Amino acid sequence: MIFQSRRQPERLPQSYIPTQFRSLRQSRQPATNLVGSQLPMVKVDIVIFSQLSSLPTMIQNTLRGLDLITIRGVTKTFEMGKERVTALAPIDQQINKGQFVSIIGPSGCGKSTLLRLIAGLDDVTEGEIKLDTKGVKRPVGFVFQDAVLLPWKSVIDNIRFPLDCAGVKRAAGDKRAQELIELVGLKGFETALPKQLSGGMRQRAAIARALADDPPILLMDEPFSAVDLLTRETLNDELLQIWQRTGKTILLVTHSVEEAAYLGTQVMVMTPRPGRLKKTISVDLPHPRGEQTKLDPNYHKLVMELRQDMRGKT
Ligand SMILES: Nc1ncnc2c1ncn2[C@@H]1O[C@H](COP(=O)(O)OP(=O)(O)OP(=O)(O)O)[C@@H](O)[C@H]1O
Ligand SMILES: [Mg+2]
Repeated sequence: MIFQSRRQPERLPQSYIPTQFRSLRQSRQPATNLVGSQLPMVKVDIVIFSQLSSLPTMIQNTLRGLDLITIRGVTKTFEMGKERVTALAPIDQQINKGQFVSIIGPSGCGKSTLLRLIAGLDDVTEGEIKLDTKGVKRPVGFVFQDAVLLPWKSVIDNIRFPLDCAGVKRAAGDKRAQELIELVGLKGFETALPKQLSGGMRQRAAIARALADDPPILLMDEPFSAVDLLTRETLNDELLQIWQRTGKTILLVTHSVEEAAYLGTQVMVMTPRPGRLKKTISVDLPHPRGEQTKLDPNYHKLVMELRQDMRGKT
């Protein structure tokens, strides 16, 4: 199978490619522009993968170079009485389908604001954000720091809630909610009320609810900051499994540089307010991630680099 891309896709680290596919090499060579004569001649990357469709979704999409989220010249200014607060200075970024993007930066630099703008919960002051999610009614699921579940509804009713609001029939909604309960490991707790769950379990329910109507994008704003370290590590691993099984594009805001490095395929580092994008780092750590990742010297190097970035030393 020959796949042609008009743009220069990221060079895929070998470590992203499962061992059985590593011999199927990517070749980078100039080729004829087959896209159209109106376009300038460009160097086209040809990736030969006889079994492209058998690769994990994230790898396929990275190879295809599909932009899902385009952020162009976005600024955000808040009016507070006579004061104007510039939360975001111009930000430009493109995010491919299937990426797991960690976002870090000092408190008040506009991380939550950026997620809210992407979700359409607030309007940009300047610039534009485009989501390539044609035909999808609700392209974004949002997971907040607090699970914000409806306290009088059971786990399954909370997860089914967005589907009920969208008019999905009860039987279909229950089936979908049950699938998600299994995905997030809450089997056996379907009828429990939020107050009967631990903090970690409430966040699992919140993730399931955010995925209920199958949005291609999952935005997460410090989703695990309120749980203890051990639970947080378990939730991190579960989230990676969910990401790999569903192929969602995930943007996760965190204050933990370790979490950012462990989870992300990319890390966006923001500057102090007004938030700008300081840099985007591609994380070249093998998948699946696990305990061995935390022993990898490259992981430690990245954590150190991110820590220095956060302290403004680079
Ligand atoms: N609705 C609002 N009205 C006025 N100012 C706001 C509003 N929302 C955010 N801001 C301001 O925008 C800036 C960025 O806020 P934001 O919550 O996005 O930061 P953050 O990076 O998420 O911080 P933290 O890490 O503490 O959560 C802050 O100075 C904040 O005071
Ligand atoms: Mg925030």
